[in-house]
Amino acid sequence: MTDIFEFDQRTHSYGVMGNPVAHSRSPQIHQLFAEQFGIRLEYMRIQVDAGGFGQAVSNFEARGGCGLNITVPFKSEAWQLADECTDRAELAQAVNTLTLNRDGRRLGDNTDGIGLVRDITANLACPVRAKRVLLVGAGGAAQGVLGPVLDEAPELLWVANRTVDRAESLAKRHAAHGAVTGCGFDTLTGNRFDIVINATSASLSGSVPPLPGSLFADDALAYDLMYADTATPFVEWAQAHGAAQVADGLGMLVEQAAESFHIWHAHSPDTTAVMAALRSGMA
Ligand code: ATR
Repeated sequence: MTDIFEFDQRTHSYGVMGNPVAHSRSPQIHQLFAEQFGIRLEYMRIQVDAGGFGQAVSNFEARGGCGLNITVPFKSEAWQLADECTDRAELAQAVNTLTLNRDGRRLGDNTDGIGLVRDITANLACPVRAKRVLLVGAGGAAQGVLGPVLDEAPELLWVANRTVDRAESLAKRHAAHGAVTGCGFDTLTGNRFDIVINATSASLSGSVPPLPGSLFADDALAYDLMYADTATPFVEWAQAHGAAQVADGLGMLVEQAAESFHIWHAHSPDTTAVMAALRSGMA
């Protein structure tokens, strides 16, 4: 009896909520981080049906859960559910990290953007400062990363989207953070960018947004927020159209998890080792 009690006291519960969630690598990533510091935790995948998000969070709290990562399609609901949010989560209007305090308060943060920025600037050694950046897409994924990318002070940042209105309103909402413009794909013709980030969900259907082929400046980086065990359609397209460097979103996934881990445990894990472990597991 004592053993069970002590186990409950020492093993803290975390989880990732989404739909679908079976594919999520977050449990493995958080366990690998925890091992680096001798921290004991459980981290579970929680599949949530549409309309059931609020109840699922309450249930997790009731069983003593300490924190949640939130993935598609609940990041916006999580932002609404949080009692208090960081500035970056407010700007994104989306939460991917919920901290469940013992006093019942739910604190929302969004670590997606800083995860992307760290992968690009530190892991890929590609500064964003003074670069010409194109963000393709204006949905949930784009919304989560735009603020932190702008905070890196690019020379300019264009948001291009199939539905132009969405790009324009996303750019407008971020106007105070830097030189950001919303546009459609047609406007891109004749323009070249140093960093092109694909934040559309086109890869899910095996397609690539209809972008002009002459998009990449010399030494350009093409970055796909999606990742897969083989090259994504966007990464293949970018290689074929002159991008000097390409990357998929596995590094961002690990870096956003590291920032969540830091929020919950006040430790900054070694992400390089974890990325290597995930890549070798995928191969
Ligand atoms: P997510 O949360 O994954 O971002 P979303 O909010 O539905 O999902 O947004 C999907 C994004 O991918 C949108 O920018 C969408 O463009 P629209 O706003 O015009 O719908 C974009 N997208 C999806 N499939 C696409 C395709 N085949 N070509 C171009 N853009 C595509």
